[in-house]
Amino acid sequence: MAHLPGFKKQNLTILVIFILVCLGGIFCAGFGSSKSQAIHAHKIQNPYAGSASCQGCHKDIYDTHISTAHYLSSRPAQEKYIKGSFAPSRNHFKFNNFTDVAMDKTDSGFYQTAYISDMIFQREAFGMVIGSGRKGQTYLYWRDSTLFQLPISYYTPLDSWCVSPGYPSAVIFFYKKIPANCIECHASFAKTITEPDGAIAFDSSSLIYGIDCERCHGPSAAHVAFHLQNPNEKIARYVINPKALSRQQRLDACALCHSGFRKEKLPAFSFQEGDKLDDFSTPAFNDKTNASLDVHGNQYGLLTSSKCFKSSAMDCSSCHNVHRTELNDPVLFSSRCITCHQEHGPDTCSLIPPRGLVLSDNCIDCHMPLLPSKKIFLQMADPKKSTPDLVRTHRIAIYPDITKKFLASHSLDTK
Ligand code: HEC
Ligand code: HEC
Ligand code: HEC
Ligand code: HEC
Ligand code: HEC
Ligand code: HEC
Ligand code: HEC
Repeated sequence: MAHLPGFKKQNLTILVIFILVCLGGIFCAGFGSSKSQAIHAHKIQNPYAGSASCQGCHKDIYDTHISTAHYLSSRPAQEKYIKGSFAPSRNHFKFNNFTDVAMDKTDSGFYQTAYISDMIFQREAFGMVIGSGRKGQTYLYWRDSTLFQLPISYYTPLDSWCVSPGYPSAVIFFYKKIPANCIECHASFAKTITEPDGAIAFDSSSLIYGIDCERCHGPSAAHVAFHLQNPNEKIARYVINPKALSRQQRLDACALCHSGFRKEKLPAFSFQEGDKLDDFSTPAFNDKTNASLDVHGNQYGLLTSSKCFKSSAMDCSSCHNVHRTELNDPVLFSSRCITCHQEHGPDTCSLIPPRGLVLSDNCIDCHMPLLPSKKIFLQMADPKKSTPDLVRTHRIAIYPDITKKFLASHSLDTK
């Protein structure tokens, strides 16, 4: 290795990282009771490397990860990420008889311009895209270091612009400030500062878009540096392997973002995989906040209330491989049920299937059905088009009515 140019410099970096790791260890041991110090030491000890640096050694995971909803959950405002149309025939949203919003593509960027009685009322640039667009996208604009929500969002089922959730639908506004938790759940990192008036300022240069490798595996610069330096080492160092964590730790790592809105006890981005979530935030079931952001489910809460969950060692990875997009594949998901509910085994389905129905083709539409969200309220330009959204319930149970509908829609009958 000594013939490599820059050997000394790299080695020095490793040494520094090593010392920091050791110091970190002492720090954590010495001040174990002081959580914020431990977190601080943790963060300094190991900076982010960026997912592009994982590609060299984990190519398969990297290649599928970059097309996942996680990775695409926040992006810079570029045309390839904005799903709404800027085509002249489709780039307007008529708010009411006096108010119209135009979505424009110009040489300097993308804009939402509100016109009241044909006079410009306010014009702001798309600064960030939130949402991969499975269900919808919303857009943010920057004013100095503060982020605000633009008044017009995008609703995927109808492939059209809509009023941003939470904004009044009668009068146009641009006032909604983006709280830190919004970025905490939709991005990997951002340095935040709470300003004297309580507003949250984001350091845009520190922003890591998307839910990237290091959001789940922890900042990994030391891991990358170590393995580049030691290409024959097959045992991973300086990186969090979720498989080595306890069940609750693994669940908490997903529940951070998949248990609905929570009340934070510590600043956004404090939590890391391996931590205990309740030390950082507590569940905050508030119908009002939920109603304003209807796209947000609580898979953790529903799953953990299921008998299936309580009677087994199941966690999210029992069914999901988060490194790839696995959707609309009931046979694949059913195969994950069958790892515990073997066909012809004692713990399998007690429904006697009518002729023509293969249970193992689709356990989920009967036991984890798509149910209409009660929270959905998105105003469309044509109110008749407003439809309820369907969400996959994570309460695994027996749904007799759903079974009846399922059999009827497949022209089958139990009799
Ligand atoms: C120079 C090669 C190299 C690079 C770059 C690299 N890794 Fe690794 N990584 C390894 C090796 C070797 C292992 C151990 C064998 C394995 O699990 O593949 C490993 C294992 C892992 C594991 C499993 C941990 C365990 O205990 O088994 C995770 C998670 C991981 N890497 C994440 C990352 C992330 C995230 C990045 C990018 C920020 C990254 N790696 C970049 C070489 C690398
Ligand atoms: C930092 C927050 C965060 C963490 C941590 C997180 N998720 Fe997500 N997850 C999201 C967001 C946000 C979305 C929606 C992304 C979008 O479409 O913009 C999502 C989407 C998903 C989806 C739907 C993907 C699709 O292709 O439709 C699955 C499944 C999922 N997450 C599972 C998990 C599991 C399992 C874990 C834990 C290993 C996890 N998530 C951890 C925030 C997170
Ligand atoms: C507690 C974590 C959390 C917070 C806070 C949060 N989100 Fe989400 N968001 C999610 C998850 C998880 C999903 C995917 C939900 C699902 O499919 O059930 C999601 C979905 C979305 C979607 C739809 C994405 C898609 O591809 O369909 C949009 C848009 C969105 N969120 C915007 C926001 C905005 C704007 C804020 C802040 C004002 C915010 N979210 C705050 C976790 C969060
Ligand atoms: C949403 C969270 C999440 C993201 C994002 C994520 N991982 Fe993972 N990763 C996991 C979980 C959970 C496991 C353990 C899976 C299990 O228990 O079977 C894992 C396991 C691994 C492993 C161990 C080998 C294996 O397949 O079991 C490696 C290596 C790894 N991840 C690398 C990466 C890299 C590289 C990226 C980005 C390109 C990435 N991960 C993105 C959650 C994530
Ligand atoms: C027993 C299997 C199973 C377990 C365990 C499980 N899921 Fe799922 N999940 C599914 C199935 C099936 C779907 C639907 C996939 C599809 O639409 O094709 C799904 C969909 C999702 C979606 C997309 C929801 C939507 O309505 O679009 C998210 C987000 C998600 N799961 C998160 C999680 C999280 C977080 C956990 C752990 C708390 C978890 N899941 C545990 C089976 C499971
Ligand atoms: C990790 C193992 C595991 C996985 C994976 C799993 N289950 Fe279960 N499930 C169990 C256990 C254990 C029970 C409790 C059995 C008992 O009490 O007799 C159970 C119970 C159930 C029940 C009965 C619920 C009730 O309220 O009576 C249903 C239905 C069910 N599971 C369906 C599913 C489906 C569908 C999937 C896949 C989407 C699945 N399970 C995945 C272990 C699992
Ligand atoms: C057509 C709908 C349908 C499909 C498909 C289906 N189930 Fe069921 N399942 C039911 C109904 C209804 C019951 C309750 C039947 C009864 O009255 O005992 C049930 C009962 C169960 C139970 C509880 C058994 C008990 O002893 O309490 C389990 C576990 C289960 N199903 C798992 C599965 C698995 C795993 C699959 C896929 C291989 C599957 N089911 C496919 C409708 C379905």
